[in-house]
Amino acid sequence: MSELSVNHLLGIKYLNKKDIDLIFETADHFKEVINRPIKKVPSLRDITIANLFFENSTRTRLSFELAEKRLSADVINFSAASSSVKKGETLIDTVNNILSMKVDMVVMRHPNPGAGVFLSKHVDASIVNAGDGAHEHPTQALLDSYSIRERLGEVAGKKVVIVGDILHSRVALSNIFALKLQGAEVKVCGPKTLIPKYIEKLGVEVETNLRKALEWCDIANMLRVQNERMEISYFPSTREYTQQFGVNKKLLDSLNKEIVIMHPGPINRGVEITSDVADSDQAIILDQVQNGVAVRMAVIYLLASKIKR
Ligand code: NCD
Repeated sequence: MSELSVNHLLGIKYLNKKDIDLIFETADHFKEVINRPIKKVPSLRDITIANLFFENSTRTRLSFELAEKRLSADVINFSAASSSVKKGETLIDTVNNILSMKVDMVVMRHPNPGAGVFLSKHVDASIVNAGDGAHEHPTQALLDSYSIRERLGEVAGKKVVIVGDILHSRVALSNIFALKLQGAEVKVCGPKTLIPKYIEKLGVEVETNLRKALEWCDIANMLRVQNERMEISYFPSTREYTQQFGVNKKLLDSLNKEIVIMHPGPINRGVEITSDVADSDQAIILDQVQNGVAVRMAVIYLLASKIKR
């Protein structure tokens, strides 16, 4: 039986194309399971998973929890706001205390880039990165590619533009790695101040004109402006950002083809996309959320099968 090349999911950077194919094939199976009247399988009855969220989350936290429960794992949840981290405990101590209760896998969201990698070197559990600062968000990129594959048949050869706050976005970086690995073409589009200088080294082109970017692409992935990660102003005003980089129905209808619209959520309606775009048939935003559960089930199942018990 094939297995993943890694024992943790720390970033797309550490995966190869075969890993992604295996995750998607496994997710196809779980997608079928979660559409049955009984949406559960007993696969992980002997596994305990801790979800450690040191940063806010709605979708990702619920999606992981549902994925774990649908695999019949035992689940414990922890959020930093109500924990002893506030009392000064170190990350390793916090996690080792949790692991001493016989936990096999840790799903962690943390504001510091590299927190997952750090933890994987110091504790004895399989680690899944659910977002580490502005670094990576691997399961989001996997569910994004899975949703492209579902809508357009395959990812290879597709033209994807990622629009908005590339600088502060872990979704952008993980998507770039995942899309390039699968043979898609990637451009980024946004205010120059929100595009990192190294970006072209990743094999990505920069297009600062939104209309041109949309005319070129098959898929536009619209990112949220990450105000919480900004200490200074990166553009003059939200209104000006929307004028230059926001997508509305009129703009989409004026293109010479129909493109697919994606968004990782949470949406700032009226800023990066208008409501009529978010709720249109061109948008696959809720498919992304639905696929997130199947893709996370696949990741957890495949990592759990590598745990020695
Ligand atoms: C993203 C995140 O948290 O990185 N959201 C998500 O996981 N669905 C993107 C965002 O917060 O804008």
